[in-house]
Amino acid sequence: MEQKREKFSSRLGFILISAGCAIGLGNVWKFPYITGQYGGAAFVLIYIAFLILMGIPILVAELAVGRASQQSIARAMDVLEPKGTKWHWYKYFGMAGNYLLMMFYTTVSGWMLYYFFKMSAGGFVGLDAAGVGEAFDTMLGRPGLMTFFMVLTVLICFTICARGLQAGVEKITKVMMLLLFALMVVLAVRSALLDGGEAGLEFYLKPNFSALQEYGLLEVLFAALGQAFFTLSIGIGAIAIFGSYIDKSRSLPGEAVLITILDTFVAFMAGMIIFPACFAYEVNPGEGPSLIFVTLPNVFNNMPGGRLWGALFFLFMCFASFSTVIAVFQNIISFATDLTNASRKKVILINIVVMILLSMPCVLGYNLWSGFQPFGEGSAVLDFEDFLVSQNILPLGSLIFVLFCSWKMGWGWDNFIAEANCGTGMKFPSWLRLYFKWILPLIVLFIFVMGYYSKFFSA
Ligand code: PHE
Repeated sequence: MEQKREKFSSRLGFILISAGCAIGLGNVWKFPYITGQYGGAAFVLIYIAFLILMGIPILVAELAVGRASQQSIARAMDVLEPKGTKWHWYKYFGMAGNYLLMMFYTTVSGWMLYYFFKMSAGGFVGLDAAGVGEAFDTMLGRPGLMTFFMVLTVLICFTICARGLQAGVEKITKVMMLLLFALMVVLAVRSALLDGGEAGLEFYLKPNFSALQEYGLLEVLFAALGQAFFTLSIGIGAIAIFGSYIDKSRSLPGEAVLITILDTFVAFMAGMIIFPACFAYEVNPGEGPSLIFVTLPNVFNNMPGGRLWGALFFLFMCFASFSTVIAVFQNIISFATDLTNASRKKVILINIVVMILLSMPCVLGYNLWSGFQPFGEGSAVLDFEDFLVSQNILPLGSLIFVLFCSWKMGWGWDNFIAEANCGTGMKFPSWLRLYFKWILPLIVLFIFVMGYYSKFFSA
């Protein structure tokens, strides 16, 4: 029965591919629009604090569970939990999170793909800022078009998964991540030099705490928590599975810090590109999920060689988002193959159909089903699905990982710390035990409960 797990070919491969899972739409699409909605720099500060205080330790916990068990969440907790306990029930919760995440992620990836083609074809040439905004709305009004690109995303990503971890995922991800890093730096410089861009830099970098009062501190904390967990991909086993592919030569805290730095770099640069451009072209930074789509084409329209730069940008964005989709699909596929006797091929074929059907509500939410506005005027199915994932499943799933790794009735602190610190590199300090076991879970729980209260019950 025991089958040797495929391994990554190099450490760089592991880091870049885990970063590839972490870096995705969350960094370039979601981070800027949430930051814009919650008033800019003060939100960014809170977000970064959460990455350090909560994100990194939880990342270590997930990686440790994966590496120690050598399993995806389908079997990880079954292997590690004390006999008779029920931690392994978590797998269904985590897997629901993987599907729910993809239910809107495939649609937004489809937007990126569409923008890549439209940009390459010169579809934005000559449009002013209003025209660029209209182009996005026109797309939202065409369910057939969006379905086409969503389906294309699903097919491309499952095909890459079908080729196997090393041949497919690792090789492709490595190259595209490096190209994305380079391009973002170029674009950030270009954007910062735009006329009228300074106001955007100020909005983004100079904290104005009155913005926090406007939304209520608790709601802002809740949003920052969701975004921090979303961007690092923690809480649903998407990172744990990568832990199961690495050997014990490097300690995990060092790897977690590195992944977080790369991830934060991309998100930060995305903000550096978007906010100056918002102010230069009079796009409202609180615009919501459409933000990057109605801002960036303006930047490209007004720069020499812009059509090429723009096409490259959306191409690399597709890569970034595909590397995340591929990682999650990989998790979904392992889940099914580990739990049943079904072949990989059959699992992939079934999931292609399931995934396309599950992605339809998000597509239709912008046209045929636009009457469904769960969070008020202008909100849509996407916002609802995103809320369920980012602000419910990820924090609660993360909580389970932390408790599992620190409580005696779980896998336990001693086992966890031994696994995390095995190998060379940065160690998890053992004096953090109290923090990890009690304070961290309490902070997550507090923000979760109070965030709900403030979002839904306070006037
Ligand atoms: N981190 C990914 C992104 O930023 C999203 C993600 C969340 C992926 C949770 C897997 C698990 O786009």
